[in-house]
Amino acid sequence: MLVLGFESSCDETGVALYDTEHGLLAHALHSQVEMHAEFGGVVPELASRDHIRRALPLTELVLKNAHKSLQDVQGIAYTQGPGLAGALLVGTSIAQSLAFSLGVPSVGVHHLEGHLLAPLLEENPPQFPFIALLVSGGHSQLMRVDGVGEYQLLGDTLDDAAGEAFDKTAKLLGLGYPGGPALAKLAAQGKAQFKLPRPMLNSKDLNFSFSGLKTAVLTLVNNHQPLTDAVRKDIAWEFQEAVTEILTAKCMAALRETGLDNLVVSGGVGANTRLRERLNAAARRKLCKVSYPRLEFCTDNGAMIAFAGALRLEAMRLKTMQDKKPNYSFSVKPRWDLAELTKP
Ligand code: KG4
Ligand code: ZN
Repeated sequence: MLVLGFESSCDETGVALYDTEHGLLAHALHSQVEMHAEFGGVVPELASRDHIRRALPLTELVLKNAHKSLQDVQGIAYTQGPGLAGALLVGTSIAQSLAFSLGVPSVGVHHLEGHLLAPLLEENPPQFPFIALLVSGGHSQLMRVDGVGEYQLLGDTLDDAAGEAFDKTAKLLGLGYPGGPALAKLAAQGKAQFKLPRPMLNSKDLNFSFSGLKTAVLTLVNNHQPLTDAVRKDIAWEFQEAVTEILTAKCMAALRETGLDNLVVSGGVGANTRLRERLNAAARRKLCKVSYPRLEFCTDNGAMIAFAGALRLEAMRLKTMQDKKPNYSFSVKPRWDLAELTKP
C-alpha cells in the first residue's frame, strides 16, 4: 500500500511516501526555523500560513523523487494532533481533500506515535516489546510499547519537557531559537566547573522534573554577571550532563523494572550526542540494545507520519475497510493523550 504522509503540527512541513512493501520511497521537509528565529520562538499564525505555502510543492517534489503520480497513492496519513491548532488544520484539510478527490482511505496520526515508531524505519528495527524514551519539545515520557497502539505510560515529566528545558536554558545563556542544538554545541566546548542538581534522580518512580534545573541555571547566571564565554560553555556542559544523567538513569530503571532488554529513543532531544553516548554505554553494560531514528527523523518529519499511518491503514484495510465508507470530514486534536490510542 502506497501512503502519502503529512506532518504540520508545529514549525516543520514534512511530506513523505511510504510503501508497505518497499519501505520509505521519498521524503521532504521544510523547516520554518529561520522565519521564527527573529521572534525567539514559534509564531502560530506564521506557522500555519507557511504550511499552506509549502505542503503542495513538497508533495510534488516527493512524488517526483519517488517516480510516482498522485494516482498511485493508495492511502493518506496526516498528523491530527497534538500540536498547534491552525498548523494541524492546514495539513489535515489538505490531506482529507486529497483523500476525497482520489477516493482513497485516510487516517489521522498521533504525532507522538509517529515519533515512537520512527526508529522502526531503520535497518535492523527493534522488535516489540520495547521501552521507549520520548523526549521532544513538549514531552518527556517513558513508555512500554507492546505493539502499534499498545502503549503503557511508565513515567512522565511533572513540569518542563526535556527539550523545553534545553530551550529555556539556552535562552538564559543568550542563545537563539531553537535552543537545544545551540546549547549542545556550546556544551561540547565546556568542562566540569559547576554543579547543578539532578532532580528526581533517586525518586523511586520513573517520572522526571526539569524546571528546578532551569531555576538553578538562572541562579548560576545571576551569580556570574557579566557572563563570559567560558562560563556560558561550562554552564551548558553541566546542564547537559545533568539532563542526560537523569534520562539515562530512568531508562535503565525502566528496563530493569520491566525486564525488557530493548530501548528505543525518539523525539528531538534524541538527536543529542551526549545522550546517545551515555545511553549506549549504560545499555552495553546491561547487555541491552538501544535504537534511534536517523538524526533527521529525531525531529519532526513526514516520514514518521507516513509510516505510522501506513501501519494503521494496512491494519484497517485487513479488518473492515471493504464494507466501511471512508469519512472525509475532519477535526484536529491540539491536545491528545497518547494513552487514548488503541490497536488498529
Ligand atoms: O521532536 P521535536 O522536533 O518537536 C516536538 O515534537 O517537540 O523536538 C524539538 C525539541 C526542541 O526542544 C529542541 O531544542 C530539541 O528537541 N533538540 C535538542 C537537540 N536537537 C533538538 N535538544 C538537545 N540536543 C539536541 N541536539
Ligand atoms: Zn515532534
